[in-house]
Amino acid sequence: MIKKIAVIKGDGIGPEIVTEAQKVLDRVAKVYGHTFEYRDVLMGGCAIDETGEPLPEETVKVCLDSDSVLLGAVGGHKWDDLPGDKRPEAGLLGIRGALKLFANIRPAKLIPALSDACPLKEEITKNGLDLVIVRELIGGAYFGKRSTTVDENGVKTACDSMAYSDYEVERIARVAFEMARKRRKKVHSVDKANVLDSSRLWREVTHKVAKEYPDVEFSDILVDNTAMQLVHNPAQFDVLVTENLFGDILSDEASMITGSLGMIPSASLGEGTLGLYEPIHGSAPDIAGQNKANPIATILSAAMMLRYSFDMQKEADAIESAVDKVLNDGFRTGDIMSEGKTQVSCSEMGDLIVKEIK
Ligand code: IPM
Ligand code: MN
Repeated sequence: MIKKIAVIKGDGIGPEIVTEAQKVLDRVAKVYGHTFEYRDVLMGGCAIDETGEPLPEETVKVCLDSDSVLLGAVGGHKWDDLPGDKRPEAGLLGIRGALKLFANIRPAKLIPALSDACPLKEEITKNGLDLVIVRELIGGAYFGKRSTTVDENGVKTACDSMAYSDYEVERIARVAFEMARKRRKKVHSVDKANVLDSSRLWREVTHKVAKEYPDVEFSDILVDNTAMQLVHNPAQFDVLVTENLFGDILSDEASMITGSLGMIPSASLGEGTLGLYEPIHGSAPDIAGQNKANPIATILSAAMMLRYSFDMQKEADAIESAVDKVLNDGFRTGDIMSEGKTQVSCSEMGDLIVKEIK
């Protein structure tokens, strides 16, 4: 198969980790007889430096004309003082919106070889930790109306609004139920329906959709309780579905309890097969350019791309097994290093994974 992949390397460690993911994709192409055509485009800080815009129009055009998008990370202190709509992060929000990628899939799973890095007590993790957060990605507070005003007394007020329409809740709920059907058939819908109107609508709509999935066990849970349950009893969760802001926060928490932020991939999907794949971690400017970063989250994001956008299941399995093998053989980047293991660089980690794809 020939597939066009738009590549956004981004800022900080972005270029290094994406290069490793491309090495792995090239290996998959060779072994399985595919062709991946890369088209480099700018977004984030590097795009601001070159074009003055975090998301140049050309980038949107190329992404829309591709079969999928691979993204490293954007942002850095250099651009921290720019106004909100000119920051690198605005590029990321913009591309998600432009491609209508409403569903963000973030798996958090305890990797046996890395269980030492898990900060939870063994009595909590002994029942397992294998969940997926399905985060609504182009609605809610991150996309609502904003304003900052100053009144006649000089009082400054800033406002962000969290709005959801029924169809937005319905489509993300369906993604969660379909996903649960392929897993352990359990959905928790996370909201704050005891306070927020948008959450009350969320609850009404998710309950309606749940009726179409009688084979899936369904419950509501408040977001504050969810934050607590994630560290108290994460084994109870299979699929969590929630709005944009809650999902942003909870997915960082979920990744942290696996002990390996540098390991977690994500997929952002819309109605069709075009998707955007990126690690959930940031651009780590402090270690950029030092060949120290952990490329695994990006490599696993490439595996998700094969699975969700290209329907290449065995190719995706091959990448995931290669990652497991390299970790089981004791190789670690600095962020997941522990005693008795062999520390390797970003590019060495990529090479080791490539070698395991046969
Ligand atoms: C993420 C990031 C982004 C988000 C930022 C950089 C806009 O934190 O992907 O989780 O909040 O969605
Ligand atoms: Mn985030």
